[in-house]
Amino acid sequence: MTNNERWSAVDDYFTRTIIGEDKALEAALAANAAAGLPDIGVSAPLGKMLHLLARMAGARNALEIGTLGGYSSIWIARALPPDGRLITLEANEAHAAVARENIARASLSEKAEVRVGPALESLPEIEAEGIAPFGFVFIDADKSNNANYLSWALRLSRPGTAIVVDNVVRDGAIIRKTASSPDVVGVRRMFDLIAQEPRLSATAIQTVGGKGWDGFALAVVV
Ligand SMILES: C[S@@+](CC[C@H](N)C(=O)[O-])C[C@H]1O[C@@H](n2cnc3c(N)ncnc32)[C@H](O)[C@@H]1O
Repeated sequence: MTNNERWSAVDDYFTRTIIGEDKALEAALAANAAAGLPDIGVSAPLGKMLHLLARMAGARNALEIGTLGGYSSIWIARALPPDGRLITLEANEAHAAVARENIARASLSEKAEVRVGPALESLPEIEAEGIAPFGFVFIDADKSNNANYLSWALRLSRPGTAIVVDNVVRDGAIIRKTASSPDVVGVRRMFDLIAQEPRLSATAIQTVGGKGWDGFALAVVV
């Protein structure tokens, strides 16, 4: 058994024992695969963690940057109260179309809205609409823009807003100061921003799982 297989089996064990079967989420994964979407969404244990964090933060509204097929969107939207709202941003029209179907199948169309376009164009529109503040923000799109997304998350937040940023370890590449990959450079810029931002209290946690060695950053607006 490879490490990846062992980590995957442990994820499966947690999913079977404490998360349980979920028809809408399983259908979403099947629809993503059938539509040829890349398998780069969060795992079930991580999705459940997003759900729990949004609940713990008492979020009424949530913002997600990077929808893919809406798997994490479903987890987050389910954490919101009946009149709560999730806005999820996706640059790719085909991904957004699959996400809308998955969200509808999960009976969450009233609560979760998928907006198509580069997130850095959608975010100023969201600010202008006065929907903010969001109580929970999940950043999971093009990692090269992570510092920009974090600045926007702060701008659209309130004290107590929880912010989660996925894929911040990248097989350990994050510690390479001279990395040339735009993704690693973007994640490092985001950590520099967190380090100098007095409004954020943050940590980062490494994870292993079916998708290898990675991790997430978690911050709260103080
Ligand atoms: C890692 S996937 C999101 C996975 C999803 N959060 C989940 O866990 O199910 C990243 C998504 O971000 C989208 N994306 C990439 N660049 C973007 C941008 N500039 N604005 C909005 N979305 C973007 C990609 O098309 C892709 O669907």
